[in-house]
Amino acid sequence: MEEFFKLIDPIPRPYPLEYGIKLYNEILKHQPKICYEFGSSWGFTTCAIAKALHDIGNKKIKFYSYDIDPKRVNKANALLKSLNLDHICKVETKDIFSLKSFGSHFDFLYIDIHNNGSAIQKVLDRINYKNKLVYFEGGSNIRNQVCVERKVPTFENLNYEVIFGENKRHSFSKLNK
Ligand SMILES: C[S@@+](CC[C@H](N)C(=O)[O-])C[C@H]1O[C@@H](n2cnc3c(N)ncnc32)[C@H](O)[C@@H]1O
Repeated sequence: MEEFFKLIDPIPRPYPLEYGIKLYNEILKHQPKICYEFGSSWGFTTCAIAKALHDIGNKKIKFYSYDIDPKRVNKANALLKSLNLDHICKVETKDIFSLKSFGSHFDFLYIDIHNNGSAIQKVLDRINYKNKLVYFEGGSNIRNQVCVERKVPTFENLNYEVIFGENKRHSFSKLNK
């Protein structure tokens, strides 16, 4: 696992390597079967999730990832291929707000679409997330302050626990079920 994260360290992304490692460990811990990611960008979190699913080794696992930017999608797919993880996930170009609701047919969702409180709420309004694992970038106090500075809604109206980066700018959180 350490070797893998050394390999993906050069991928451009806003987050420290530990962010991806924590996400990897969350997947190992919960072993979800049907997974979604909204906002692959260049593929850093996509690879962390895909590697964990690969290491779990369940052939019935499904992982769908989307990004609105086709250039980033191409890069993410090339990266997955170079890491032999393209059998786990192929990223698709989609505006996630153009998707019809995917109801409750998933176990795990990671949301990372230039997040703020209202973007997350907009996603949640379209899905049935009761008893599902829903993670999103953000949630720490410092990250909420960034929302205030950007004049966008904070995450404070959501019911969540910070999983990574409680006292850091780069954080991710899990919705309470
Ligand atoms: C902060 S980046 C994601 C970082 C990424 N998870 C990583 O590991 O580097 C946010 C991404 O969300 C994508 N995005 C923004 N709005 C979107 C939308 N409506 N549908 C799909 N992707 C979107 C952007 O193109 C961008 O690549």
